[in-house]
Amino acid sequence: MTDSVFVTYPIPDPGLPLLREHFEVRVFGAERAPTADEVVDNAGGCSGIVTLVRDRVDGALMDRLPGLKAVANYGVGYDNIDIPAATERGILVTNTPGVLTDATADLTWALMLAAARRVGEGERMMRAGEFHGWDPRMLLGGDVWGKTLGIVGFGRIGHAVARRARGFDMRVLFYDVVPQAVPDDITAEPVELERLLEESDFITLHVALTEQTRHLVDEAALRRMKPTAYLVNTSRGPVIDEAMLVRALREGWIAGAGLDVYEHEPQLAPGLAEVPNVVVLPHLGSATFGSRSGMAELAARNMIAALGGERPPTLVNADAWRGA
Ligand code: DGY
Repeated sequence: MTDSVFVTYPIPDPGLPLLREHFEVRVFGAERAPTADEVVDNAGGCSGIVTLVRDRVDGALMDRLPGLKAVANYGVGYDNIDIPAATERGILVTNTPGVLTDATADLTWALMLAAARRVGEGERMMRAGEFHGWDPRMLLGGDVWGKTLGIVGFGRIGHAVARRARGFDMRVLFYDVVPQAVPDDITAEPVELERLLEESDFITLHVALTEQTRHLVDEAALRRMKPTAYLVNTSRGPVIDEAMLVRALREGWIAGAGLDVYEHEPQLAPGLAEVPNVVVLPHLGSATFGSRSGMAELAARNMIAALGGERPPTLVNADAWRGA
């Protein structure tokens, strides 16, 4: 009998056509995330669900979906899924690493440059008709070339960010909550978080969201940063205490920030939208045509493998794998 798969959003090609070659596919009809009740109503009898990073999948939801064998997350981060609960129930969980690494690293650089060179403020000034001619003191920002870059989280995306730093002749420091090797083509120095915070001119976050990394950048961390430094986040919002970041930006503890993700996404912390020295983007890290279709294909291939009894290419919870 053909398995049924529920997809919470019409993911780009080739995701849905690939899934349809193998399964009876049901796609959620609205542009928003389905509620838990809507998932249960739509996914009854399904062996698999394909989720976005905005969909929460916890043990209670899994228990309401008897017969669920696999959750294929369309995203590299999977903090939206309760992994121990899935593993306990023998449900395979997969993600989409690799295909979005370079797009996310590129956007990190866009935010670093935009924050330092005040691109957002300049753009707002132009659109408001407030540019009245060149002025030597107007919108001065920080230099990027030759500065020190601190990378927090030195996995695939952290490495890709470090590679790009060679073109800016930057010294690269890194810190990770788990020890990481330095690939041969990267020059970077492992340091403690405190030293990274104190010495870096740019700090960029690339850790997964876990209990260990929630509020890793808290008041103490922000106060340790240089007043001339910039903070960039393309990982997960709750890694930063966002209310404290608003204070840090307002009171000049740091020079500026570039954010793609938010603690209470899609909401911004009170006051953040009013602070001039922050560049805010709507979670665009992987938003290129190439990355998004790569993510869709990988999510579909993971689901096809999982329900076909093969080990999925990018399985998150190896302990749930019972073998083919
Ligand atoms: C991810 O993949 O985890 C991103 O946040 C969405 O692309």
